Amino acid sequence: MLFSPFNMGKFTLFNRIVMAPLTRLRADENDVPTALMREYYSQRATKGALIITEGAIISRAARGFLNAPGIYNQLQVAEWQKITSAVHAKGSVIFLQLWHVGLKSHIDLLPTGTLPVGPSKINYFGLARTKNGLVPASPNRALENNEIAQIIEDYREASKLAKEAGFDGVELHGANGYLVDLFLQDGTNRRTDQYGGSLENRTRFLLEVTQALIDVWGNGRVGVRLSPSGTYGGVYDSDPITLFSYVAQMLNQFNLAYLHLIEPRMDGTDIKEIGLKPVAANRLRNIYKGNIIVAGGFSQKDAEEILEDGDADLVAFGRNFIANPDLIERMRNGFSLNEYDRKTFIEGGEHGYTDYPFYKEL
Ligand SMILES: Cc1cc2nc3c(=O)[nH]c(=O)nc-3n(C[C@H](O)[C@H](O)[C@H](O)COP(=O)(O)O)c2cc1C
Repeated sequence: MLFSPFNMGKFTLFNRIVMAPLTRLRADENDVPTALMREYYSQRATKGALIITEGAIISRAARGFLNAPGIYNQLQVAEWQKITSAVHAKGSVIFLQLWHVGLKSHIDLLPTGTLPVGPSKINYFGLARTKNGLVPASPNRALENNEIAQIIEDYREASKLAKEAGFDGVELHGANGYLVDLFLQDGTNRRTDQYGGSLENRTRFLLEVTQALIDVWGNGRVGVRLSPSGTYGGVYDSDPITLFSYVAQMLNQFNLAYLHLIEPRMDGTDIKEIGLKPVAANRLRNIYKGNIIVAGGFSQKDAEEILEDGDADLVAFGRNFIANPDLIERMRNGFSLNEYDRKTFIEGGEHGYTDYPFYKEL
């Protein structure tokens, strides 16, 4: 089933394998994508397959990691254009992931005089990445009500720029404890205005941002990524099952390209328990009516089972795509996989990035 075609709305995919969004920190210090990134994505582009890019920062105020790419100015658009052209030349579909880090930031990265922001001021223990490497996030503050509208506009502008840059669609990063997720979960959202409190209020930010992206892109070109019950980045909820069931239900009002779920067994970049079947996708499948992508430490065999069981339509692979530029060909042919090297995930230049061998070179 992994190699059966799938109609994802406007796109005909030739197989069910998706490249998961993977932050690799190879942009320049002004958040501009580089030629090296073009090579990396071009290496991984496969005819008829979907690539979701690493998170791209929607404004300078959204930064949290030095060398993560941005999508908020024309210089960045021009370089992304080269990447989308290279990927399209190989016949891949490519979505840009839109990212606001929320609390996981540091004053060295932010506009002068500003602090990391979230729905509420909390004691936060995440790490940001500055020129001094990984450092504790700076103290944060709660967003004022009127600032939230501005952030939604930043998402809208970023998604317009993504269109100019030639992407096929955008994915909202609503997972892993970043801004959208902070709003969703009651452990990190203690607001008392219309963006906090009830399920309806905590979901409002996600839905308003999603609407802004759809205003720009129309139907079938916007995806949303969530990590139900994920605790990465210090987020937690008193009743995650009710929360994410509600969110999935509310997302039915849009004609999304897909809902992308990270399984709870994944904690950021680490797997907590091996061998579990997808629980989030299995639960939300009955609630969410559109296409589902699932991710989280899956092997090719797991992916086949997930598709057989009907829990998802597509399976995203992260770390195996880091180490195997030709992952899809390897899986198709049953070839062995290169092992990934964690040390070069978010550090370095071409080593551990574009120098993983293709199978035929071995
Ligand atoms: C180095 C690294 C960077 C990641 N960056 C992102 C990111 O930018 N956006 C995101 O939604 N998830 C990110 N993730 C999570 C992956 O998309 C994926 O959900 C996770 O790696 C589980 O899939 P896997 O077991 O196939 O690697 C990252 C994971 C890794 C290992």
